[in-house]
Amino acid sequence: MKKTLLITGGAGFIGSHVVRLFVNKYPDYKIVNLDLLTYAGNLENLKDVENAPNYVFERADICDAAAMTALFTQYNFDGVIHLAAESHVDRSITDPNAFIETNVMGTANLLNAARTLWKGNYEGKRFYHVSTDEVYGSLGETGFFLETTPYDPQSPYSASKAASDHLVRAYGNTYHLPFVITNCSNNYGPNQFPEKLIPLFINNIVNNKPLPVYGDGKYTRDWLYVVDHARAIDMVYHDGKDGETYNIGGFNEWQNIELIKLMCEKMDEKLGRRPGTSAQLLTYVKDRPGHDRRYAIDASKINKELGWAPSVTFEEGLSQTIDWYLGNDEWLNHVTSGDYQNYYSSQYAHR
Ligand code: NAD
Ligand code: DAU
Repeated sequence: MKKTLLITGGAGFIGSHVVRLFVNKYPDYKIVNLDLLTYAGNLENLKDVENAPNYVFERADICDAAAMTALFTQYNFDGVIHLAAESHVDRSITDPNAFIETNVMGTANLLNAARTLWKGNYEGKRFYHVSTDEVYGSLGETGFFLETTPYDPQSPYSASKAASDHLVRAYGNTYHLPFVITNCSNNYGPNQFPEKLIPLFINNIVNNKPLPVYGDGKYTRDWLYVVDHARAIDMVYHDGKDGETYNIGGFNEWQNIELIKLMCEKMDEKLGRRPGTSAQLLTYVKDRPGHDRRYAIDASKINKELGWAPSVTFEEGLSQTIDWYLGNDEWLNHVTSGDYQNYYSSQYAHR
């Protein structure tokens, strides 16, 4: 094998698309997927590659420093693409410590393991941290996040991601650890856990459940199809410059309420329901505390320097995503049984 790569969080939503891309595109790389399989991790996401000769799965906790050192020693990784994290803003409001532990301490453990194993011999090595646009805070009605926008995180989730970005840069500065960071906007697509807006609303529409729109519904997000994020990660891992940050976004802003109405229309069509049926499920509920008003990414740096641009239009991506959920009811039933019901009632019962 030419290289051995560690991908953390590979059983999650974005991670599974990254693992699939790397396993298929680079048969001469050994891809080690390290994942704790929390509620968000699901090996069903990777059924199509689980028997590939260049793929290995390791169940482990990034918060376990000794386990990280042992894995680095066993595999002698050339590179790390770090995605494992607690990723849902609402959960970070209920339980911030889980985010601080996994996102901050977990990242520190990986950095320490890389530094210890690589011993200053960084030839061909790279630590890639997959981060979020939420570290930049919230925008008003105009403007975009640039790579130079000062950090201003507003939720426990975004603060923990900002802290981990700072740690990665500090290890680069202090120990010369070669790193890259990307900050990406909202992803959507197959395999996303139905706690996030798009899959949660698809699932509720299918089941004729209320669609809980937070606040006035005029919050704005910039949506990117997950496969295009995975393509960007591949390009940045291979061609990005050490010590650089790249913003990744969809050039695709939607106010929540407009996006939800579009989803309702598409779902009516696909489910053969009378137009307007799903929209009757819209229910305005209590807002998310500290809710960021608007995110919008300026992705011109990655576009100009690495030639990346989204390849899937929102129209196509949303349609493919809905079709995927409608065609994978077994996947959806597995992830929405058990603990999901407790989560749903604790999050939404009092809104
Ligand atoms: P996800 O919640 O779907 O997946 C996270 C994965 O990490 C799961 O497989 C989970 O089992 C694993 N994990 C959690 N804690 C772990 C631990 N202690 N040890 C090992 N594994 C652990 O998340 P996602 O939406 O796929 O996001 C992946 C990464 O991308 C995160 O770092 C997130 O901050 C970042 N990101 C997400 C988005 C988005 O829109 N979803 C956008 C930008 C950046
Ligand atoms: O911007 C990147 C970030 O996008 C990632 O770093 C996070 O991991 C990811 O979860 C996502 O964060 P958001 O908070 O923007 O995503 P979420 O899908 O939770 O919410 C999108 C918008 O929809 C937000 O304005 C809140 C709103 N919303 C969400 C839910 C779950 C609702 O109105 N109702 C809901 O039930």
